[in-house]
Amino acid sequence: MKVFTTIDEMRIASRAARPAGRRIGLVPTMGALHQGHLSLVRAAKSSCDLVVVSSFVNPTQFGPNEDLAKYPRSFEQDRGLLEREGVDLLFAPSVEEMYPGGAVTWVTVEDLSGKLDGRSRPTHFRGVTTVVAKLFHIVEPDLAFFGQKDAAQVAIIRRMVRDLNLPLEIAVCPIVREPDGLAMSSRNAYLDPQQRKQALVLHRSLMRVQQLADAGERSAVKLTAAGREEFAAESSVRLDYFEIVDPATLDPVENVSQSALVAVAAFVGPTRLIDNIVLAPH
Ligand code: PAJ
Repeated sequence: MKVFTTIDEMRIASRAARPAGRRIGLVPTMGALHQGHLSLVRAAKSSCDLVVVSSFVNPTQFGPNEDLAKYPRSFEQDRGLLEREGVDLLFAPSVEEMYPGGAVTWVTVEDLSGKLDGRSRPTHFRGVTTVVAKLFHIVEPDLAFFGQKDAAQVAIIRRMVRDLNLPLEIAVCPIVREPDGLAMSSRNAYLDPQQRKQALVLHRSLMRVQQLADAGERSAVKLTAAGREEFAAESSVRLDYFEIVDPATLDPVENVSQSALVAVAAFVGPTRLIDNIVLAPH
C-alpha cells in the first residue's frame, strides 16, 4: 500500500491507473477505523480494481464547540488494518494541504444541509460536501463508498453528485453494529462503561419502531411517539431528534407507505451518537 500526503502525488497515482482502464474506488474516512469502515473497504475491493482510502479529520465539518481536538486518531493502527485489507493507496493529507491559507470556497447543498443533523450542526454538512467534492476531484474515482450509518450525509452527497453532474457513482453499505446492536462509530470510544449501556437506547428505540411498523402501524406520529418514549425511560440520554423522513429529501413523512428513514440522534453524556433504520414498504 502506498501512502500519499500531497494532492499532487495522489492525483498522479490515480491518473496513472486510469489509462489501464482500471475502475477506481474511493472510501473517504476520518480515520480511527472500525469494522464499519472496513466493510466499505471490502465492498470497494470486491467491485473496483484500485482501492483508495482517504483518512482526514476534516476540520470544516466540526462546529466551534465540537470534538475536533479530541477526535480519536490512530494512524499507525489504521495503516496496518488497511494494508491487511489489500488497499492500494492511502491518502492522508495535512490540514494545510487540504485547506491552504485563503481557502474561502464552499460546496453547499442548500435546504437538505439544514435538516436532521444539520439543524443542530448548522455548518456540518457544508464542511462534509466541500471536503468530499475536493476528494472526488483529487482522486477522480469511478465509485465512492459511504455508510448508511450517516443517512443524511448519503442523501446530501447523492444530491451534490446529481446537481453538479459529478462523473461517479455512489455506493451505500449497510450499518455495521456491535453484537448488542450499538452502531459502530469512532465516537463510541468516548463512552465509559455506564454510558456504553445507556447508548443502547438509540438502537432500542429503532427496534421498537420496526416492531410496530411490522405489526402494521403506518402513522409517523405514532411511530415517532413510540420511539421517543424509549428515551423518556432513559433520562441520562438527551434526545436531539427522532424523525421519520423521506430518505432522499429528508422531509418528514406522515405515513410510512413508501420506504421511510427513521433517524435518531442523541447525546450520551457529551457524546453525540446517531443511528437509523429504513422501513421498507409492505
Ligand atoms: P467517518 O465518520 O470516518 O466515516 C467514514 C465512512 O464510514 C462514512 O461513509 C460512514 O457512514 C461509514 N461508517 C461509519 N460507521 C459505520 C458503520 N457502523 N457501518 C457502516 N458504515 C459506517 O463520515 C465521515 O467520516 C466524514 O463525514 C467523511 C465522509 C469522511 C467526510 O469527511
